[in-house]
Amino acid sequence: MKKVENCKLISKTEIIDGIFDFVIESEDISKEAQCGQFLHINCGDSTFLRRPISICDAENGKVRFIFEVKGKGTEELAKKEVGDYIDVMGPLGHGFEIKDSVKNAVIIGGGIGVFPLYKLAKNINADVFLGFRSKDRVVMEDEFNDVSNMVIVGTDDGSYGYNGYIASAMDQYLDSHKCDMIYSCGPMPMLKAVKKIAESRGIKCQVSLEQRMGCGIGACLVCSCETNKEGTDRYAKVCTNGPVFYSEEVTLND
Ligand SMILES: Cc1cc2nc3c(=O)[nH]c(=O)nc-3n(C[C@H](O)[C@H](O)[C@H](O)COP(=O)(O)OP(=O)(O)OC[C@H]3O[C@@H](n4cnc5c(N)ncnc54)[C@H](O)[C@@H]3O)c2cc1C
Ligand code: FES
Repeated sequence: MKKVENCKLISKTEIIDGIFDFVIESEDISKEAQCGQFLHINCGDSTFLRRPISICDAENGKVRFIFEVKGKGTEELAKKEVGDYIDVMGPLGHGFEIKDSVKNAVIIGGGIGVFPLYKLAKNINADVFLGFRSKDRVVMEDEFNDVSNMVIVGTDDGSYGYNGYIASAMDQYLDSHKCDMIYSCGPMPMLKAVKKIAESRGIKCQVSLEQRMGCGIGACLVCSCETNKEGTDRYAKVCTNGPVFYSEEVTLND
């Protein structure tokens, strides 16, 4: 059974409108956390179920997560203040697989999908692609720049950086650069585009899925996704078998 901990909120910043950057204290989670894992958070009395939020960074007894206010749960979480305690279960899930044999990695994230990729970017050498709706939604560009070989930022409306979908920017880059692993997290249309590009170019690709969740520990089946990996069940649980899968092993449904 995964440990549930009451963790003190030690830093809170609203980095852009409706997106909150929280740092909590936890020696155990900071030691155990792997890139791409998530926390299952009790947001407060307004929601019965915990809400999954990715670990953005974890070191020296501090665990950072960044979330967008979407509904009741995240709205209540955003009301927590420094000094309050947050009931957290984790770290949970199967994160990104980091292989020494990979020599030319690409990381691609879209919207709130960039947050779980930060710890990964700190841990591997990669060229990074970050996509956002518009200039006012761009986050963490400087932080990724500090830890990556190269960062390309794009906006869907062309108001900042590459003009268009970030998967297209990556596709153009791949015409002239070697790549043997793509790590991705973001909205489903982006993941589908990335999977298609990776498979057409014969590049291995890991995708992190943001499925709705219930228990977070493999007991309720709320988070099932269809798999096509030979020798396994037809459905996998995103909370325990994922959230990260190899793109060829999962069917990406809207
Ligand atoms: C493994 C995992 C990691 C995640 N990491 C992050 C993160 O780092 N930062 C972040 O901001 N969000 C993250 N999410 C999404 C986050 O869990 C949801 O936004 C949150 O649960 C919404 O809860 P709520 O009570 O505020 O909204 P609800 O009232 O439950 O829902 C509000 C709206 O959000 C939609 N929604 C709810 N859950 C999801 C979901 N899982 N994916 C997409 N849309 C959803 C609903 O359909 C609805 O339209 C992650 C999800 C998963 C599964
Ligand atoms: S959320 Fe319950 S099995 Fe995955």
